[in-house]
Amino acid sequence: MGNYGTRPFLLFVLLQLLLRRACFSVNAADTLSKGQSLSMMNTDIISSQSGNFELGFFKRGIPSKIYLGIWCKRFRQRILWVANRENHLSDPSTSRLEISDDGNLVLLEASSKKPFWSTNLQNLPSNSTEAALLDDGNFVLRDRSDLSTIFWESFDHPTDTSLPGVKLGIDKAGKLPKQLISWKNSEDPSPGLFSYRLDPNGSSKYILEWNRSQVYWSSGVWNGKSFGNFPEIRTNDIFNSSFVSNENETYFNYSVYNSSLMTLFFINYTGQIQQFAWLSFVVLPLIPVWTRPESLSDVYALCGPFGIYRDNTSNPCDCPLGFEPFSDIETRLNDWSGGCLRKRPLQCENRNAKKDWFLKISSMKLPVNSKAYLAMSARRCELACMNNCSCTAYAHNSSGCMIWKGALLKLQRASDGGEAGQDIYLRLSADEQHISTKGNKWKLRVIVAVPVTGTGLISLILCLSVCFSSKKKLERRGEEAASVNDLMLFDLNTETHAIVDPTNTKDNDTKRGKKDVELPLFSYESVSAATDNFSTANKLGEGGFGPVYKIQLRNKCWIGGHAFTLLKGLLKDFSIFINIQG
Ligand SMILES: *[C@@H]1O[C@H](CO)[C@@H](O)[C@H](O)[C@H]1NC(C)=O
Ligand SMILES: *[C@@H]1O[C@H](CO)[C@@H](O)[C@H](O)[C@H]1NC(C)=O
Ligand SMILES: *[C@@H]1O[C@H](CO)[C@@H](O)[C@H](O)[C@H]1NC(C)=O
Ligand SMILES: *[C@@H]1O[C@H](CO)[C@@H](O)[C@H](O)[C@H]1NC(C)=O
Ligand SMILES: *[C@@H]1O[C@H](CO)[C@@H](O)[C@H](O)[C@H]1NC(C)=O
Ligand SMILES: *[C@@H]1O[C@H](CO)[C@@H](O)[C@H](O)[C@H]1NC(C)=O
Ligand SMILES: *[C@@H]1O[C@H](CO)[C@@H](O)[C@H](O)[C@H]1NC(C)=O
Ligand SMILES: *[C@@H]1O[C@H](CO)[C@@H](O)[C@H](O)[C@H]1NC(C)=O
Ligand SMILES: *[C@@H]1O[C@H](CO)[C@@H](O)[C@H](O)[C@H]1NC(C)=O
Ligand SMILES: *[C@@H]1O[C@H](CO)[C@@H](O)[C@H](O)[C@H]1NC(C)=O
Ligand SMILES: *[C@@H]1O[C@H](CO)[C@@H](O)[C@H](O)[C@H]1NC(C)=O
Repeated sequence: MGNYGTRPFLLFVLLQLLLRRACFSVNAADTLSKGQSLSMMNTDIISSQSGNFELGFFKRGIPSKIYLGIWCKRFRQRILWVANRENHLSDPSTSRLEISDDGNLVLLEASSKKPFWSTNLQNLPSNSTEAALLDDGNFVLRDRSDLSTIFWESFDHPTDTSLPGVKLGIDKAGKLPKQLISWKNSEDPSPGLFSYRLDPNGSSKYILEWNRSQVYWSSGVWNGKSFGNFPEIRTNDIFNSSFVSNENETYFNYSVYNSSLMTLFFINYTGQIQQFAWLSFVVLPLIPVWTRPESLSDVYALCGPFGIYRDNTSNPCDCPLGFEPFSDIETRLNDWSGGCLRKRPLQCENRNAKKDWFLKISSMKLPVNSKAYLAMSARRCELACMNNCSCTAYAHNSSGCMIWKGALLKLQRASDGGEAGQDIYLRLSADEQHISTKGNKWKLRVIVAVPVTGTGLISLILCLSVCFSSKKKLERRGEEAASVNDLMLFDLNTETHAIVDPTNTKDNDTKRGKKDVELPLFSYESVSAATDNFSTANKLGEGGFGPVYKIQLRNKCWIGGHAFTLLKGLLKDFSIFINIQG
């Protein structure tokens, strides 16, 4: 396979071709000694000798929180290491880094006696320690009279980024395992749910875990040259990679032959591990060389409890009806770990309250951690869930009944790509029953606007015939009424504005003109999907009979939650206008 590490190779070629225009101006010290102090107010920094790396204070979040970190001079926004990720400072005028009387590095604020962060070592030669930022990005506390004696190094305590030289692995001497833990979101460096580490069971593979326990991706074992699922990581013209395992430690390390090429591994707060590479002297945007897992859909529980993952959108998570995002602010920062919360609590335990009910969500990949029961009728499956207050959802098909307790994790929409989805029934409070009248029995006025001539009409006819045949197939299979209900029947009119009347499809008497019918036609999901979750962009206005949305039919004919791909490009010409009457 010829594409291994193509992008680093291209960068390497660039490296050969481009003029070297280094700008290694050194205007800050690379060390901090006793008696000196790095203060936030003076925007002090420590700069590595090459000038590539800098250490200093940075702010994140609103209201802003203060952290001490290391970044690359070229990409100041990308923080490579954070000292106090769990314990932020808040007073910019007094935040400072010092070497304390006992020789340790301490992070202080005026009001605080206890340091916000410290290297916390015993028995240091207290008068002779100094801190230095080395050229590889490692921040060390060392003996100033013997620079090779290193007491502490940031490479032993990586946050979410691993630079060449970090030995990500297991230290058999009982030190902490070195792992990468994602930030919570782009504004919050505190430890998120995703982590990357060497298999604790002793094999030579790396794993991605959710909540430090649920493995959702593995690199495959080291075969002497590369990891099975990670062909990019191997020794080649650019990187020298090796897997070291001896009586003291087990780790993977790699180095770059030409020090002008910079690289790093990074675990994104979206749960993906990525490698970046860039040239220290060429101004190019930072792009990942590779990303694993490649699709966000393979990240475990990305959308949090009760969150729904939908493919291929810039906003991949959504909440089911009756739920709202855990936090608006975090959702805006693409942090969905909090998932979705019920708008109204379940009343199951309350005997006087109205019974909970189940909202049907169609075309889903079912969540994990279900309990399966064999051969049970749909009704019994529903009852089994209804009768136990800890049951939050059920699903039923011919092979059995599945029941979920507690939070639903990894709820995903089946993608359009033909992948079969299933219906899941989600328990909701009776107070949310208004959704069911809206959701399951939409009263819709459906107006199909078709150009009188042209390809649009032909396409529509084709689309409708597909819908018909699907309906017949379903009927023949004797599916439950609900799934047939999801399908829409058309009466095709050649009028420019025809109102479609499903009751008339079976008689051949094609009536002309407008017909105004109200019918439970679409499932909530299909309408929601077709109107992009009722976005205002698709809303045409609001009449006396309620809001009117426009469904744009591109390449797809959306019928009752089923999308039919037909004659690509031809279907652009017409729209369906739907009027929703709650
Ligand atoms: C790295 O590559 C550049 C461009 O080819 C070259 O000028 C430079 O000498 C190389 N540096 C090292 C350390 O090999
Ligand atoms: C550190 O230096 C101070 C003043 O130079 C001296 O008084 C003190 O004894 C020294 N401490 C140690 C442990 O050497
Ligand atoms: C480690 O071993 C335990 C027990 O056999 C197993 O449950 C777990 O999945 C293993 N972890 C990995 C990453 O293979
Ligand atoms: C993560 O696991 C811990 C127990 O190890 C549990 O208490 C916590 O609720 C879990 N977090 C999430 C978001 O599920
Ligand atoms: C790769 O690294 C190993 C260990 O440092 C070294 O022995 C080997 O010579 C390096 N390979 C090359 C091609 O530089
Ligand atoms: C393991 O640690 C011991 C004690 O520090 C040291 O003597 C030995 O050389 C180490 N072994 C390797 C392979 O590094
Ligand atoms: C990996 O680490 C070992 C031990 O520090 C070192 O000898 C070796 O050169 C490193 N290999 C690479 C490829 O950097
Ligand atoms: C993390 O992933 C998100 C979403 O894929 C992306 O927008 C963001 O740029 C990534 N963060 C970094 C630092 O690359
Ligand atoms: C409901 O389910 C929980 C968890 O499985 C179980 O402990 C409990 O006994 C069940 N309650 C009833 C009434 O079946
Ligand atoms: C029923 O659902 C389970 C779980 O998703 C699935 O594995 C099975 O194939 C389904 N059976 C049928 C007949 O669809
Ligand atoms: C997502 O986007 C990719 C690339 O544009 C495409 O190949 C894939 O089919 C899309 N998946 C879905 C479910 O739309």
